[in-house]
Amino acid sequence: MSDTHTFPPGFLWGAATSAYQIEGSPLADGAGPSNWHRFSHLPGTVANDEHGDLACDHYRRYADDVMLMQEIGLNAYRFSIAWSRIFPKGRGPINLKGLDFYRRLLDKLNEAGIAPYVTLHHWDLPLALDERGGWANRDSAYWFADYAHNLFKVMGGQVRQWTTLNEPWVMVHEGYVEGSHPPGLSSLEQARQATHNLLRGHALAVQAFRADGGEGQIGLVVNLEPKYAASESKEDQSAMARMHAWMNRQYLDPVLLGHYPEELAEIHGQGLPDFPEADLRLIQEPIDFLGINYYSRSVVRHDPGLAPFYAGRARQDQAAHTAMDWEIFPEGLKSGLLWVKHRYGEIPLYITENGAAFDDAAPVHGRVSDPDRVAYLRSHLLAAREAIAEGVNLKGYFAWSLFDNFEWAHGYSKRFGLIHVDYATQARTLKDSALFYRRIIDSHGAELYW
Ligand code: FCB
Repeated sequence: MSDTHTFPPGFLWGAATSAYQIEGSPLADGAGPSNWHRFSHLPGTVANDEHGDLACDHYRRYADDVMLMQEIGLNAYRFSIAWSRIFPKGRGPINLKGLDFYRRLLDKLNEAGIAPYVTLHHWDLPLALDERGGWANRDSAYWFADYAHNLFKVMGGQVRQWTTLNEPWVMVHEGYVEGSHPPGLSSLEQARQATHNLLRGHALAVQAFRADGGEGQIGLVVNLEPKYAASESKEDQSAMARMHAWMNRQYLDPVLLGHYPEELAEIHGQGLPDFPEADLRLIQEPIDFLGINYYSRSVVRHDPGLAPFYAGRARQDQAAHTAMDWEIFPEGLKSGLLWVKHRYGEIPLYITENGAAFDDAAPVHGRVSDPDRVAYLRSHLLAAREAIAEGVNLKGYFAWSLFDNFEWAHGYSKRFGLIHVDYATQARTLKDSALFYRRIIDSHGAELYW
């Protein structure tokens, strides 16, 4: 087995989830409601009016779930903390029972030798804070930093790897522009404030981590979707550049280069606001690593009817797509990682999410055959390995997701799991993709080449 066919020593093999998507029992043991709890209970917001009241019942089944992680052979697990379990109203005294759940989970993970990668915030904002304007309120950055500081204090002994936010772009775009996620708004102005406050909150949390003498590392997780122009035309090229700035560079440029992309002015129809210089310096607070969530690329065409972006998607009908209608494009993972390296320098990277939804059949005699997901994982792991060969400092890979779970506005209709969940009985079944991943982990990647 040659070195070019295994992954670097210490490379981590993980899987990822998030609190609201899997835990269930959202109000148990004194927890406060989150924005997602309320939103999903409004009729018509989520497919089939589904919600996270039970989800994967992980809140009660966490110990068995850690055993399933061991069965797959994971050596890392990325999950998020539900802010309103710890602070039912977002701020104020700690709810010890809520904290206790995560302590027990962390103990199990640490005993099992599975490194916890803890996301402080994966979209489920305490409702009490949402009602005070959420991320559009400048104070939200301080609320988040306080919350983070408290978690570093009470969980620091059990956690070495932290990330602040998961995919701020999705929170802003879906929540403040499309309105398909809470707070369900359609306001570019609020989107701009929310983006800025999320980045300020992120940076203040990183500063708190350092000030608290936190041991370990802290980073940020962004979604990366490489953009390609539908044609060579000037219009398509600039639509592509605009969407790239909006979705990818809007978050990475300020954090890693200290400024917002100029192309944003085309979307906002005016110059960018004069955010205080001190904010931009704050946002550039150095991080230890960057987490990249990669699912697909998009091919962009100019569309004069689609304000404010004037850009639409050119669907690649000839290509294979997942059940989300996302094009399967593993080359985009490699080119995205290389783009990050070239634009932003030698920051250590993780793939913090990668995976695919397919319409899996129910288990038959304890087996779920999901060849499309196996092929997806294989091609993307190969792309990741090629990126490493070209010099990308990639430290680990987290499959999305450990389980089938609550896929936000799609409810339970989209299955991303390595583990099948029968929501009626809560039975778990390792899919063929989980068994495939186990062989990859056992061989430290070599099996990809067999
Ligand atoms: C990402 C989210 C994650 C999941 C996957 C499919 O954008 O971070 O929670 O919904 O997409």
